Amino acid sequence: MSKIITSATNITGKRHRTLPARAIAIEDLRLMARRRLPKVVFDYVDGGADAEVTLNANRAAFDTLTFRPRHAVAVPQCNLQTRVLGRDLALPVLLAPVAYSGLIHTGGELAAAQAASKAGTVYILSTLSGQRIEEIRAGCAGSLWYQVSLLGGREAAEAAIERAKNAGFSALVVTIDSPTNGNRERDLRNGVLELVFQDRLLPKIPFLWQLLARPTWLADFWRNGGMPPLQNVLSPGGGPTPINKIGSILTYQVTVWEDLRWIRACWNGPIVVKGVLTGDDARRAIYEGAGAVVVSNHGGRQLDGVQASLRALPEVVAAVNGEAEVMMDGGVRRGTDVIKAICLGARAVLCGRAYAYGLGAAGEAGVARALAILRSDLDRTLRLLGCESTAMLDRSYVD
Ligand SMILES: Cc1cc2nc3c(=O)[nH]c(=O)nc-3n(C[C@H](O)[C@H](O)[C@H](O)COP(=O)(O)O)c2cc1C
Repeated sequence: MSKIITSATNITGKRHRTLPARAIAIEDLRLMARRRLPKVVFDYVDGGADAEVTLNANRAAFDTLTFRPRHAVAVPQCNLQTRVLGRDLALPVLLAPVAYSGLIHTGGELAAAQAASKAGTVYILSTLSGQRIEEIRAGCAGSLWYQVSLLGGREAAEAAIERAKNAGFSALVVTIDSPTNGNRERDLRNGVLELVFQDRLLPKIPFLWQLLARPTWLADFWRNGGMPPLQNVLSPGGGPTPINKIGSILTYQVTVWEDLRWIRACWNGPIVVKGVLTGDDARRAIYEGAGAVVVSNHGGRQLDGVQASLRALPEVVAAVNGEAEVMMDGGVRRGTDVIKAICLGARAVLCGRAYAYGLGAAGEAGVARALAILRSDLDRTLRLLGCESTAMLDRSYVD
């Protein structure tokens, strides 16, 4: 235990030094984030679509899968490394694209990218980012992928792809499950539309108490200029798109299979298709040139009522049949979850909320703590399973 705390405190910044070190599990970071963030921001991260059936199913699927350990096996050394799209990662956990990370913590995108880089893994930058592609690249040495969305139309997406290419991002992630925004009821009740998308003060007034109740967050947010525009979605005039204009361009965000063709033509690196839930979509993604697919329901934030990602994973793995790499996300909160996904055929997992809670709790130090928790879980779980490497995991280790 003391080893874990030391490793987390070593990487922390100044202001949040002791806070994340006290987190034993991702749930502790979640509770810390809830204490630091205004309700409207915390619920934006924590919530899902409609009745949150899929959000809860993602977690429940992990809980119902049980292990079949090999006991009386000595595992002196555990190897957590994996290779994703030709690059070695220190652990099989990547940081998923999380929109508006700057709301969760000032400079949230760069903070998360730096923590990922120090942990030896990939950070995926969302299109919906308040920090420039080039700024993220300049501030972090590790592997970066760019998640492109067609928000703002094809021209804006092509410009962003070009910038990601020039900045040395190594893969492009195309999310296919978001033709429109999911119905996130918590956001609507908390006044996201009024607080974020409205210029006028009057409609904001009933919701402002949430911000006033978190003065530290508010002072930080204010000091850093409030909500930055979308730096990587250039409007027709050439400037970054202001956040309150995004409502009017939401209808352009649908990505269809035909888009993969022109995306392919302007990006010569690997393409990852995120949001696959069926074998048919996985086959189509490969046909359109994807080198990897992510089995994902967007963390239960889009179509409520689709099955848990973990449950969809075996069908996709079978359909892909080794022709592309398969990853998954949705509900990953513990190292045991990561191991279960790998046993069912995932090469690695993406985590969204697990690191976003850390970001909300304590910025970069909190993300580092989330990754340290998952790493230590992974190491311990492999030893308890009697398996020395994530590469040796297979279905025989789960029921
Ligand atoms: C606050 C938040 C914002 C997100 N923004 C994006 C995004 O911009 N693009 C995207 O492809 N997925 C986005 N996602 C989905 C994540 O990339 C990922 O699929 C999901 O969080 C996985 O589920 P988990 O949070 O249970 O780990 C977002 C998720 C959260 C929680």
